[in-house]
Amino acid sequence: MSGVTLQNAVKRYGDVEVIHGIDLDVKDGEFCVFVGPSGCGKSTLLRMIAGLEETTAGRIAIGPRDVTRLDPAERGVAMVFQTYALYPHMTVRDNMGFGLKMNGHPRAEIARKVAEASRILKLDDYLDRKPAALSGGQRQRVSIGRAIVRGPDVFLFDEPLSNLDAELRVEMRVEIARLHKEIGATMVYVTHDQVEAMTLADKIVVLRKGVIEQVGAPMDLYRDPDNKFVAGFIGSPAMNFMAGDVKDGTVIVPGMKARFDLGARYDGPVTVGLRAEHLTVDPAGDTHTVDLTESLGGVSYVYLLGDTGERLVLEERGDHRSRIGARVGVAIDASRVYLFDPETEARIRT
Ligand SMILES: Nc1ncnc2c1ncn2[C@@H]1O[C@H](COP(=O)(O)OP(=O)(O)OP(=O)(O)O)[C@@H](O)[C@H]1O
Ligand SMILES: [Mg+2]
Repeated sequence: MSGVTLQNAVKRYGDVEVIHGIDLDVKDGEFCVFVGPSGCGKSTLLRMIAGLEETTAGRIAIGPRDVTRLDPAERGVAMVFQTYALYPHMTVRDNMGFGLKMNGHPRAEIARKVAEASRILKLDDYLDRKPAALSGGQRQRVSIGRAIVRGPDVFLFDEPLSNLDAELRVEMRVEIARLHKEIGATMVYVTHDQVEAMTLADKIVVLRKGVIEQVGAPMDLYRDPDNKFVAGFIGSPAMNFMAGDVKDGTVIVPGMKARFDLGARYDGPVTVGLRAEHLTVDPAGDTHTVDLTESLGGVSYVYLLGDTGERLVLEERGDHRSRIGARVGVAIDASRVYLFDPETEARIRT
């Protein structure tokens, strides 16, 4: 087994550079998740690791081997895509064993490996069926099985669950976590889904416009984002941002008529970041109007429109529910406030 190392990896299509020199170290056995807005380069980077896209400049290594110029088949990787791309005329068993058969592996070995993958993925009851007779989740399990059978050093997943309905996604997410525990291989996984990223990853890589914004364990990114982009991207609902000012160690937030002492060694305008779960409705206040509420059962989200035109979302727990149209204020837990430079969007650490 092996990790994946990228050194100054660049991808250009003609004159257009889409990956701008990425350095990344995915450790052996690690579950690494790429997240970022559409078009930021997640799939391109994954395909560069797979060898499906040529790397324009820089170096990619898998374990100790430089694979930058190797064919996909020589890299010891297996890729699972959003679309399953199974052979419709073949049974589940033959779909999973096909790659090995083409490479001339002995029949007994293929049968043993297919049986092992089938056991891990609970496909034993479906081995003689054709893909048309399977649900979406079962088909995706077969395509993961096809990857397992090849015994790769590194599994590469490109949004493997995004074609599934909500319930199946949850089920398959748990299965992928279990698979990673059981076989312990290095996995690199692209997703749009916050929950998948937070729950599956040992390490999240946040990409934006072909560069890495931050790399870290899920809770480290959540608690300690380096900039406004990562703060707004990790966590759901997204972090609230408001205009503020720091003067003599006091943070002033006009939109909330709030001022609090952070002892901030900084002077000047700031962007104030506040997570929904760290804000509470102050019924005695008079800075915001309740615009909308969403009840999810145990929690509800309250959307507020401030008198400054700034919008906020906050979280309410338990039975208390704000009434639409009500005038309220917002109470801040000052220990949970993030500050960002409004120009560079970098975090101001206090
Ligand atoms: N063959 C190509 N020629 C030129 N530009 C390309 C080509 N393939 C991809 N791109 C560009 O590269 C950038 C990254 O694309 P990529 O598919 O990696 O994004 P992504 O992060 O996977 O997005 P999504 O979340 O929508 O899947 C995009 O701006 C895209 O338009
Ligand atoms: Mg993509």
